Amino acid sequence: MKVAIIGTGYVGLPTGVGLAELGHQVICIDNDESKIAKLRHSQLTIYEHGLQELFDKHVSLGHLTFTTNMKEGLSGAQLIIIAVGTPPHPITNEADLSYLYEAAAQIAPCLNSSYTVVATKSTVPVGTGDEVESIINHINPQANCDVISLPEFLREGYAIYDFFHPDRIVVGSDSTQAKKLIASLYEPLLALHPHCQMLYVSRRSSETIKYAANSLLATKIHFINEMADFCEQSGADIYEVASGIGLDQRIGKSFLNPGPGFGGSCFPKDTMALDLMAQKYGVNLSLVHATLEGNKQRITSMAQRIIQVAKQLNDGPAEAGAAGAGAWDGTGAVVGILGLAFKNGTDDCRFSPAMQIVDHILKVAPNITLRVFDPKAMDNAKKILSGYSKQIVYVNSAQEVSHGADILVVLTEWGEFSNLDLNYCALHMRHKVILDYRNKLSMRLAHELGFSYSGVGLGTDDLHH
Ligand code: UGA
Repeated sequence: MKVAIIGTGYVGLPTGVGLAELGHQVICIDNDESKIAKLRHSQLTIYEHGLQELFDKHVSLGHLTFTTNMKEGLSGAQLIIIAVGTPPHPITNEADLSYLYEAAAQIAPCLNSSYTVVATKSTVPVGTGDEVESIINHINPQANCDVISLPEFLREGYAIYDFFHPDRIVVGSDSTQAKKLIASLYEPLLALHPHCQMLYVSRRSSETIKYAANSLLATKIHFINEMADFCEQSGADIYEVASGIGLDQRIGKSFLNPGPGFGGSCFPKDTMALDLMAQKYGVNLSLVHATLEGNKQRITSMAQRIIQVAKQLNDGPAEAGAAGAGAWDGTGAVVGILGLAFKNGTDDCRFSPAMQIVDHILKVAPNITLRVFDPKAMDNAKKILSGYSKQIVYVNSAQEVSHGADILVVLTEWGEFSNLDLNYCALHMRHKVILDYRNKLSMRLAHELGFSYSGVGLGTDDLHH
């Protein structure tokens, strides 16, 4: 099948590569000329585990091509997938659909009497499919097409794995012809994974499923984070608690890892968009709202805690609360930051809790020095943090973060941080304090080396007890 994909970001590119591997002829379209030029020269524009190998394979076989020209890209396509960004609008916070509607308007004149399916993969508010359909029909009443919803459930960093191991494929359409076309698209994948269910629902249900799934997962994380706070105070261990509840199949074991709060370009945006949509419909989604607000507060309080400990180490005992920490400008303190990406396996820093924590620290204590390292996200982080160039030292390895530092803070759950040479850090730090917001380091070893170690939900926070 000839498939055209509009948008070459974290959704469009892995989807394109995956569909090429299933045997389809894929053309990726993007209006960013520099991105397309790089992709045409076999240079990936994002980091995604396992993407490079399949990308190289299908580019060299000619199964995967790239263009900036919409007309050329859509010519002969039986399926057009829209995978453009729908970021939160800077003023209203609602999903910004301008890129999506622009894509629909550009698709319309390219459609003709040959049957085409236009599938929205971008996460869009309920009812957007109706709007896409009316844009197309208005511009080109002769277009023979069905507009469907085809949400994606790929995790960044694991997008290729998830593409080939789906739990379900949700198709939002009432059209038999469209359902048949999507069934044949995924036929090679279903042959490998007969347990994967094709779920055919209405377009509005499909659009809602995407928001409901992300909001429920975000709520699960927020729940375990609050339980981690509870464990710290009650002396319980969050991992024992997570196992104890996760073994109940109605709850499930995944997404019960505590941390500094959830982030990324999906959960914060989608919970916020669902909350706003519900308000418009006059529905009170109190749980989603509490998750959203609670997560924001968590990120801020995690940052405040770093400032308070830094102040305590440099300036005597910290005053309690945000005001106390805010009165101190951070002069002389050095904090080592491990991780900037919003999670492991990706170079993506958008809405990263780590980046928000860094930003908060530097706003409240502008003279603090941060020594930062991330295995993949340094370039993206540098662009976002360019305004803070004086206070941030970008180093080349995890252990270099420790040089002269008062505190070591783990902010992203990179597996390799577990292997950090704590002996080396102990020798190079000014004060031996660890705030491990991802529980990646060994508390036992840290204590043996004389560190003050504080994890999340471990019940043995020796900065407090
Ligand atoms: C999420 C969903 O998991 C995907 O199913 C969905 O397709 C995607 O959004 C999307 O809408 O496009 P993603 O944002 O890539 O995927 O990342 P996740 O692995 O879900 O992690 C999100 C955030 O939650 C990260 O900050 C991560 O560190 C945090 N997290 C995740 C935890 O703190 N604890 C956990 O147990 C799991």
